[in-house]
Amino acid sequence: MARLTIETVTKDFGSFKALDRVSLDAADGEFIAVLGPSGCGKTTLLRLIAGFDEVASGTIRIGETVVSSPAGHVATELRRVGIVFQNYALWPHMTVAENVGYSLRVAGVATAERNRRVEEALMLVDLGGFGDRRPANLSGGQRQRVALARCLVAAPSLVLLDEPLANLDVHLRAAMEDEFAAFHRRTGNTMIYITHDQAEAMALADRIAVMDHGRLLQLATPSELFREPANAMVASFIGHGMVLPLTDILPEGDGRARARLFGRELTLRCARDQRAARQGDLCVRAGDLTLAGADGDGLACRVTRVVYRGGLFRLEAVVEAEGGPTLSLDVPEPTSVAVGDAVTIAVKPGRGWAIPTAGGRDAS
Ligand SMILES: Nc1ncnc2c1ncn2[C@@H]1O[C@H](COP(=O)(O)OP(=O)(O)O)[C@@H](O)[C@H]1O
Ligand SMILES: [Mg+2]
Repeated sequence: MARLTIETVTKDFGSFKALDRVSLDAADGEFIAVLGPSGCGKTTLLRLIAGFDEVASGTIRIGETVVSSPAGHVATELRRVGIVFQNYALWPHMTVAENVGYSLRVAGVATAERNRRVEEALMLVDLGGFGDRRPANLSGGQRQRVALARCLVAAPSLVLLDEPLANLDVHLRAAMEDEFAAFHRRTGNTMIYITHDQAEAMALADRIAVMDHGRLLQLATPSELFREPANAMVASFIGHGMVLPLTDILPEGDGRARARLFGRELTLRCARDQRAARQGDLCVRAGDLTLAGADGDGLACRVTRVVYRGGLFRLEAVVEAEGGPTLSLDVPEPTSVAVGDAVTIAVKPGRGWAIPTAGGRDAS
């Protein structure tokens, strides 16, 4: 078990910057999910942590040891990292026990000691007694647990997982999510878990690192990411946030601010240390919006879609006068609202999150 510290790491492939000054730290025993769309650099980051590739600049430390920097590179086998891939990478001709014990055999660990550690690792993933089976005779979830056991047997200081559930069907994924959580509790390992599935990241991680285009956008707890996104990209990526333009953001110093949305004044949430800003973004989700009465204060919209969601309807409506951003909100069943109707939509008081635009921070 060990702390992982990544400082301003950059990685180029030719002229393409796959990672751009990425910094993140995982405390000893922490479960960090790295979340981002396909191609954003997640696997590249994991390969640098594992030592399969070298950094262009920046440093990576495991515990107190610098393992990657432009000045030097510690070999993978000396980093004591365990790695679990999406496709398991089990050897079909070996039994489960031989697969799990392979690295110990290569390292020359004596048979009795090896058998003991293999059985212990299999017990940890709830596969005690499965040692004699072949991978072909296991379910997808069991194969993934063999891959976990194989990574554990070497007593890694850090466990890296690259989209380990991506190949499993939906039901199995939910069950394996519980397995990973239990596995983390039992072993207390520091874990770096890569995924493009935000529900998975939210369910498992102590903190989530959100990446896009080779950059780390925010590292925060699942709740902070959802409630207090650092920028418009995180706001729209996490939890289907809607992002709308704000002006005249005036913080009141207690985590609330007044601001204008298309000219109308609103009360919103904002960072406690927020300064006034001329411009910014509003992040709202369907649950933060409501239909105001015909004479109520809000945005004049035209309904473009009504979808039944069991007990409620999800409405989509275009803010017609303001260049047509689309809003989504839920209204309880029954409703008479139909496509083509004119409605007034309001942000519930205190519910939106204000994000001042970088560069437009200071209104004074
Ligand atoms: N060895 C490589 N050579 C050139 N480009 C690469 C190489 N590895 C990854 N890339 C590029 O770097 C970007 C990030 O890739 P990757 O880290 O695999 O993304 P993710 O795991 O988030 O889907 C992609 O655009 C990919 O094409
Ligand atoms: Mg990948």
